[in-house]
Amino acid sequence: MNQNFEHSDKEWALRSSTTTLLQPFDLNGVLRLRNRMVMAPCTRNRAEPDLRASRGAIAHYAARAAAGLIVTEGTIISKEAQGGPGIPGIFLASHVERWREVTDGVHAQGGLIFNQLWHQGRMAHSFYSGSLPLAPSPVVDLSKHRGDRYYDFTHEAPRSMSEGDIARTISDFARGARNARAAGFDGVEIHGANGYLPEQFLRQHTNRRTDGWGGAARNRARFVIDVIDACAAEIGYERVGLRVSPAAHFAEMVFTPGDEDALLEVIAAMNARPIAYLHTGVDEDIHYDYLGGTSNAFLRRHFHGFLIGCGGYDPQTAAEQVRHGNFDLAAFGRLFLANPDLVTKVKGGQAWTPYSRQVFEDLR
Ligand SMILES: Cc1cc2nc3c(=O)[nH]c(=O)nc-3n(C[C@H](O)[C@H](O)[C@H](O)COP(=O)(O)O)c2cc1C
Repeated sequence: MNQNFEHSDKEWALRSSTTTLLQPFDLNGVLRLRNRMVMAPCTRNRAEPDLRASRGAIAHYAARAAAGLIVTEGTIISKEAQGGPGIPGIFLASHVERWREVTDGVHAQGGLIFNQLWHQGRMAHSFYSGSLPLAPSPVVDLSKHRGDRYYDFTHEAPRSMSEGDIARTISDFARGARNARAAGFDGVEIHGANGYLPEQFLRQHTNRRTDGWGGAARNRARFVIDVIDACAAEIGYERVGLRVSPAAHFAEMVFTPGDEDALLEVIAAMNARPIAYLHTGVDEDIHYDYLGGTSNAFLRRHFHGFLIGCGGYDPQTAAEQVRHGNFDLAAFGRLFLANPDLVTKVKGGQAWTPYSRQVFEDLR
């Protein structure tokens, strides 16, 4: 067999194992994706001092516009939501203006882009926000603050949110959704995963409240559901997605038996609302007894809408999952960072570049 033939043989094999990912996908009549490949939200830590997305973000997202859908890096909804360096915001007119340049760049190439709305809750830090972090309860994350090369300090004990704090934060999410649309985003994804504020309400370890926002699963679920409803009131359910992490231990999140019940309350509420999708982002292949399987299988079993699977997949393994009906759309984080042209590579059956820390360092 000559080398050329061997090469094209490999390409053919790769192409045929991933064609599922290249099919168009009608999310809900409002959003028609040209393929099933989603760019997962990936923090870049490159925002300007006033929290406008960096100029580099315009080219960064435009270069990946061939994805069926891009979900931006987590974007904070208020100053007090910030817990890391260079996280962009979506709460000032100047933020909206810069994001408009980003969405224009993606739309010019026929792409779709959602903005991920983020509040870090107890993971926020006064170093950035100027005030003590807010959380359902004053339970501190004892791990070292992340962000190594920029700083080295520990988390602060958060302040327990008052009713007023909760109402304001929900309307901050709603403002984020409104601003995102004003900036030209096709929708928003609520970051309800990985140990940040919404998940801090869901889990008993971080939610010790005895009022209407804590205790029973239904109460712990209320914050997430209210955030979704408040955002949908601004831009419609069809343009709101939700990311959750049923099993993640990220950010010192502890799983307490019964935590899954709050998530089930959220899922039941989402089943009754035409949201765009649910999205996971953690170790899909791990079996968790308390979920009765993988986190993805748990969501598939209970959620009746569209599911985006993510976490350690490559186009081949993700395509297999989609073919088996385990999820509808496949998101790639690190691979889209390392391969702006990931869709082109999948179409051509070409090998993709693996992710390395250098890829992150080189972002603009
Ligand atoms: C550099 C980097 C930044 C990330 N930032 C975010 C983020 O802002 N929001 C979020 O929900 N997930 C974030 N993630 C998680 C990814 O969206 C994704 O779930 C994870 O990387 C697993 O998918 P992968 O194996 O395809 O990379 C980040 C991951 C990486 C590598």
